[in-house]
Amino acid sequence: MQYNADNTPLQHVDEWDEFVATRYRQGKSEEEFRDYKADANPTVTEFYRQNHAHQTLDFVLSKKAEYCSLSRDKKSIWEMAEYLNTLVDDSDPDTDLTQIEHLLQTAEAIRKDGHPRWFILAGFVHDLGKVLCLYGEPQWAVVGDTFPAGCGYSDQVVFPEFFAANPDSKIPAYQTKYGIYEPNCGLDKVHLSFGHDEYIFQATRKYLPKEAQYMLRYHSFYAAHRHDAYRYLMNEQDERMFEWVRKFNPYDLYSKGRERPKTQDILPYYEGLVSEFFPDKIDW
Ligand SMILES: [Fe+2]
Ligand SMILES: [Fe+2]
Repeated sequence: MQYNADNTPLQHVDEWDEFVATRYRQGKSEEEFRDYKADANPTVTEFYRQNHAHQTLDFVLSKKAEYCSLSRDKKSIWEMAEYLNTLVDDSDPDTDLTQIEHLLQTAEAIRKDGHPRWFILAGFVHDLGKVLCLYGEPQWAVVGDTFPAGCGYSDQVVFPEFFAANPDSKIPAYQTKYGIYEPNCGLDKVHLSFGHDEYIFQATRKYLPKEAQYMLRYHSFYAAHRHDAYRYLMNEQDERMFEWVRKFNPYDLYSKGRERPKTQDILPYYEGLVSEFFPDKIDW
């Protein structure tokens, strides 16, 4: 397969989500998990090469400064969802879901299992941060498994060998176990690689319960929620809240194969849900 060596190795950012879903395909053995490279095509591999090489602590801090003050835009959740929906690729519109359909499908799977309204809402908004792509951010700064910057890399992060190309790997102070952090300081003090998780967390944190905030902020932190890595940075609240991150993850990963959501039928429900928690416009 061909790939571009520029900033867009993936046909579409959702190719990363598909890789993760394959990586954690239900019923896989531990051994098959460890052989994730078998599921990674050259474009996905190139994507991780860029992600691991470029996500330095300085980069993370600069992107947080740029986006997390939420001074870029004022939009409703619906306006943002419509905007995200313009992120289209050249794949088959008959079989591939739109961004809003992925959000609705995730939320509907949560709703069918009888979870609380805030949980359903977390499903509905969880990937809105992917609008970073539309802001012109490279794929490696929007999606990908997240990992702490500023401390030693865990070999539980996929493709750990690619960290050798990250300039931080040459900074001894960033390469000890704790790096710039204190033992069990809590993830709120830890700078994870930048991406759509952090952005949607920041934009919605004022309006959602803690459990939902954790789901949004850490849904791509697979090394931690799937492989128990970096426990030594987590505090007691993180340990408790990660139960919810783990509860959320299967809905994100495994609702894709289900039937296409009947958007027009369920839209009124989601309009009510969104307006229950969010004001008309929020800061982005
Ligand atoms: Fe996501
Ligand atoms: Fe998702």
